[in-house]
Amino acid sequence: MLNIRKAFSGVEVLHGVDFALHAGEIHALVGENGAGKSTLIKILAGVHCDHQGRILFRGRAVRFSGPRDAERHGLAVIHQELSLIPHLSVAENISLGREPVRRWGGLDRRAMENAARRVLGEELGLTLDVTQPVARLPIAAQQLVEIGRALSRRAEILVMDEPTSALSDADSRQLFRVIRQLRSQGVGVVYISHKMDEIYALADRVTVLRDGRHIGTAAVADLPQDRLVRWMVGRSIEQQAPRHPAAPGPERLRVEGLSLRAAGSGQWVIRDASLRVHAGEIVGLAGLMGSGASELLGAIFGRYDAAPGGRIWVNGRRLANPNPGEALRHGVALLTNDRKVSGLVLPMSVLHNVSLATLPRCTRWSVTSPQRELTRAAPVLERLNLQAPSLRVEAAALSGGNQQKVLLARWLLTEPTVLLLDEPTRGIDVAAKADIYALLGELTGAGLGILLITSELPELLALADRILVLHRGRIVAELDRRIATQERIMHAAMGGAGAQIEKES
Ligand SMILES: Nc1ncnc2c1ncn2[C@@H]1O[C@H](COP(=O)(O)OP(=O)(O)OP(=O)(O)O)[C@@H](O)[C@H]1O
Ligand SMILES: [Mg+2]
Repeated sequence: MLNIRKAFSGVEVLHGVDFALHAGEIHALVGENGAGKSTLIKILAGVHCDHQGRILFRGRAVRFSGPRDAERHGLAVIHQELSLIPHLSVAENISLGREPVRRWGGLDRRAMENAARRVLGEELGLTLDVTQPVARLPIAAQQLVEIGRALSRRAEILVMDEPTSALSDADSRQLFRVIRQLRSQGVGVVYISHKMDEIYALADRVTVLRDGRHIGTAAVADLPQDRLVRWMVGRSIEQQAPRHPAAPGPERLRVEGLSLRAAGSGQWVIRDASLRVHAGEIVGLAGLMGSGASELLGAIFGRYDAAPGGRIWVNGRRLANPNPGEALRHGVALLTNDRKVSGLVLPMSVLHNVSLATLPRCTRWSVTSPQRELTRAAPVLERLNLQAPSLRVEAAALSGGNQQKVLLARWLLTEPTVLLLDEPTRGIDVAAKADIYALLGELTGAGLGILLITSELPELLALADRILVLHRGRIVAELDRRIATQERIMHAAMGGAGAQIEKES
């Protein structure tokens, strides 16, 4: 890609970027939120066609007329925001656009389902019912299906825009094995990620973008991490200081004997979960895919139609029949992990998205005052260092990481006393992560209680005072920060023996 320029409504966001990918290399593309990574690969993938500059493919100038055209040339892309069609089955999504047909015409459903099982099972180690609609799957499984779809294209160029943002360590490692295998077969891989350890474990070369400009390209082996970070943010950032936990204050949240069954199958999703969170505490939740951790947060917030069994108290007051409205009134806020489905309203303005949960406070005589919305939102957005052309643009115009900041701001504005966070730093760049960690420290210092899920174990270890580990819907271990290690968490998360003992000690 040579001298690529791209503007949105007259505002240029890529200012002449060069990028080269070789066969058989894994090339990391990194940079802060809003640097232009997704835009660059959307140009490569034929999603944006109105750019300037040239694209050479195998030395020949090409101009893809759309995503299908790019695919035909041997390009497969996993976009940052999942592009699965929710009501279609897993198998249908995987073979979308290339459905196998029988000799005399007509869809060969059996072949389609077998192909889906093969790519998910053999390559990604995932066994699931490929005939069910993808909307029913947890976000991590959806991400794996999206990856499976790209892998099944047998492409020469594979582009992955934050493919592991919702994956556990184990799933990520399996994905890395597949990516390395593709590299050895000569596939060129573009890999976008904010996770430093992934970049160093996986990539051969790295290219850094900052503010829509190419800052540098280097072999990963020649680029120490502090220099890489300097390239990305234009300055050094402090190593993350471990949080200094304060003595826990009064009880913010108490959950006793919470159980939940899946709506369709009736299987137990959460079984007999009990926990407490005090003012000033960050309690971590860990578990593999399907452990029930996300559902536990959802159940506390009253997200599910079927009322869960068990009792919940917030600041000593019982939630009689948990639903989101009641939870909010009691001072509970939930940041979900699937920002596209239950979080962000993409066609709505950034400002409305931010004030969505607090509209009554900006409304008088049923008229919403944009001025009041702005006055309330601005300080929080500034604190989160939101990068947006303006607060009037639609949320769809923000980069992925900035969309995440919008959601975080929305829930902070509700002034919660209990904050339930599911992957709060998903898609957030290194510098902004440090800001968010500092912010969580301030919030707990001011008396909030936080229940935190993150698939990045180092983050969990750095932030949490205690870590509860779930396995198949049960809390099987409780690890104090002084004894918690990645190994101990994983051991318990896989249902390891002895986990119970650690809880009792
Ligand atoms: N559809 C759009 N309309 C207007 N502006 C857009 C649109 N898409 C992206 N932008 C702007 O282009 C710039 C680059 O965004 P891009 O999504 O490429 O960033 P990114 O590097 O992928 O960031 P992140 O790490 O947060 O995903 C941002 O300023 C963003 O607001
Ligand atoms: Mg992006």
